[in-house]
Amino acid sequence: MTVRAIAVVSAGLSQPSSTRLLADQLATATRDELVGRGEQVELHHVELREYAHDIVNHLLTGFAPDALRQVLDQVTGADGLIAVTPIFNASYSGLFKSFFDLLDADALGGRPVLIGATGGTARHSLALEHALRPMFAYLRSVVTPTAVFAASEDWSGGTAEGALRSRITRAAGELAEQVHRAAPSSGPADPFALGTDFERLLRGGNS
Ligand SMILES: Cc1cc2nc3c(=O)[nH]c(=O)nc-3n(C[C@H](O)[C@H](O)[C@H](O)COP(=O)(O)O)c2cc1C
Repeated sequence: MTVRAIAVVSAGLSQPSSTRLLADQLATATRDELVGRGEQVELHHVELREYAHDIVNHLLTGFAPDALRQVLDQVTGADGLIAVTPIFNASYSGLFKSFFDLLDADALGGRPVLIGATGGTARHSLALEHALRPMFAYLRSVVTPTAVFAASEDWSGGTAEGALRSRITRAAGELAEQVHRAAPSSGPADPFALGTDFERLLRGGNS
């Protein structure tokens, strides 16, 4: 049986982090939905604060240190992606944007993505629609119709309950359905892969 890999990227800065908490709950719900559809699932959690220095170094030098390269490969090679950011100044955080700025524009092409965010006030929930959704649209991902925002008031006793719980379940169902329907990922794109078919050239073809 194919194992479906789900990358879970969270960009929270606090410890403990409500962004990580939301990412974990989205990941668990997505795994449960996929298992319900008969899939085996591997979750790869990526906490961006652990790679913050490497991300800046990569932006400045154009090269990824090994640990960050592995994480980038996990994200671009996954069958599905869960991406969660804290809202800073009514948009995604700089760390979140910087990480996705490292990807080639087509590295997430066609990839199912569930977007989520945490914030102090529910009034900024539309940042998901005016900031995150356009960014993943630019990267040509397939973003689930339901995006999940959790404000401070949504966490009662440190867990998602009520309205937030039902948003998580609905979004996870949508992501699981997209992943379930797609062919298994063939892994991260190789930037050095040959673009020319030499056998065809030898037979007199053009490329
Ligand atoms: C610099 C800064 C700007 C923020 N701007 C907003 C904002 O515009 N809207 C909002 O709802 N919350 C805002 N917040 C609150 C954070 O989104 C909130 O604390 C977040 O859930 C923290 O996530 P974490 O616990 O994973 O670090 C801001 C926090 C910081 C530090």
